[in-house]
Amino acid sequence: MPKHDGKEHELLEAALKVMDNAFVLWGFKVGAAVLAEDGEIYEGCNVESWISGLGICAERNAINHAVLHGNKEIKMVAVVIEDKNVETTRPCGVCLQYIKDFSENNVKVVMAKAKAGKVLSESVDVKTIEELLPYSYEMRQRALDSFLQS
Ligand code: THU
Repeated sequence: MPKHDGKEHELLEAALKVMDNAFVLWGFKVGAAVLAEDGEIYEGCNVESWISGLGICAERNAINHAVLHGNKEIKMVAVVIEDKNVETTRPCGVCLQYIKDFSENNVKVVMAKAKAGKVLSESVDVKTIEELLPYSYEMRQRALDSFLQS
């Protein structure tokens, strides 16, 4: 039985497609894609800098891409990293908080490794953002409410 459904598969493929465009100076390529409230998929790749602390992860770039197109909420996230670079694909802590800022608790994060241009189906793991970040900074609802009312 496949571990992931049609939409999850579509998001993983979108993430894989943009992983190649990552701008990498010292790390490795990461691809991400989010399903936004408008029903569209927005992708992002990581962009690195030689300056410590600059650059941005693929997940946050994908979310920013969705925001750029008028979205304030995301419904699902996928992230793909090349097999040789990680034991297990997981968003970093900063990205978990950023995902949480734009999501309900039950939003799924679909994580996988890729090899030779393909998603490794045995590596696919799906967890909710609440499972990945159970004790998050919780200003979101108040901030979002006032933003939506503005
Ligand atoms: N990276 C991401 O794009 N997403 C993550 O969740 C973890 C790390 C990027 C940052 C850096 O460019 C490279 O992967 C190595 O850490």
